Amino acid sequence: MIGKRQLGKDGPLVGALGYGAMVLEGYYGASDDDEAIRTIHRALDAGVTMIDSADAYGNGRNEGLVGRAVRGRRNAFVASKFGIVFEPTETGTDLPTGWGFSLKINGRPDYAKRTLDASLSRLGVDALDLWYLHYPDPATPIEDTVGAMASAVRAGKVRHIGLSNVTAEQVRRAHAVHPIAAVQYEYSLWRREAETQLLPTLRELGIAVVAWSPLGAGFLTGTVNSLGANDFRQYNPRFAGQNLATNADRYAPLLQLAGELSITPAQLALAWLMHQGEDVIPIPGTRRAEHIDENARAASIQLDEKQLRQIDALAQPGLAEGRTLV
Ligand SMILES: NC(=O)c1ccc[n+]([C@@H]2O[C@H](COP(=O)([O-])OP(=O)(O)OC[C@H]3O[C@@H](n4cnc5c(N)ncnc54)[C@H](OP(=O)(O)O)[C@@H]3O)[C@@H](O)[C@H]2O)c1
Repeated sequence: MIGKRQLGKDGPLVGALGYGAMVLEGYYGASDDDEAIRTIHRALDAGVTMIDSADAYGNGRNEGLVGRAVRGRRNAFVASKFGIVFEPTETGTDLPTGWGFSLKINGRPDYAKRTLDASLSRLGVDALDLWYLHYPDPATPIEDTVGAMASAVRAGKVRHIGLSNVTAEQVRRAHAVHPIAAVQYEYSLWRREAETQLLPTLRELGIAVVAWSPLGAGFLTGTVNSLGANDFRQYNPRFAGQNLATNADRYAPLLQLAGELSITPAQLALAWLMHQGEDVIPIPGTRRAEHIDENARAASIQLDEKQLRQIDALAQPGLAEGRTLV
């Protein structure tokens, strides 16, 4: 069993590693629902309690799948998100991603209320353990969105509030309206911008850091050499053409270090994140039960000061080629 970490200074204890369910929607290759449910069960059995979904993953389908998997599983801590509009009948604000497409974002209170009820119904639960705003809506003050989320807490439909893909300034404004338990942001050995402004602010406010794409969407496992035709990572410039080869060269010494430490590259990436503070909770995604076991073992790897310095030097901020998602 992996250990536990606290979700923010006044929050509940959750498994020290979470599980990202987005990969079960075929974004990074085909996924089988029966295996997906076995994988989530394996995660819960290993003490990985926080299961991360979003209403937009698979246009609602992912919440249905997660709901099936967690039914009757008492240690499951279910997190979901709203704000990326996927319903054809709903409106939103265009948010260009920098990857050649835009997201439609809606953080208006009336939408928040509607979408929460739909999420609860798909998940088959009376209340969400953690409900995130997926992206702030450029057209709606974050205070208004969080005000609506706080109403859902008072109504007993949500236990804790989270934010995702926000700036330090947005966190401060939101936290002044209602305590924020966790902020989800891309954080890994190939994306470290969070360290400069966001993390210090979260630490000052006592908010947990949930690290999305902690394995660099698979890159840091050293196993992604090419992408299938429908693979969503085609949009990610870090995986595109020459960039993938360049990044493979730049990160080769890191992968080699994992070998020298007799751990896998995935374990090195997760163990490093977990050494960045007790408040950091990575949520690796996988479709495979055996990868759950491998990743869970990362939670008991001890890296010493020298090893941490070595890793830091081999994966300096800015090393990866290719722009990130906004
Ligand atoms: N808030 C946001 O905006 C946002 C954005 C993106 C993601 N997220 C959340 O973060 C979660 C994780 O991010 P992610 O799925 O993008 O990337 P990730 O966790 O960094 O990487 C997932 C990829 O790594 C592979 N993998 C996992 N463990 C492995 C192992 N031990 N060995 C080899 N390969 C391994 C998986 O392949 P296999 O399936 O073959 O194991 C999968 O393709 C998502 O599921 C989602 O819940 C949030």
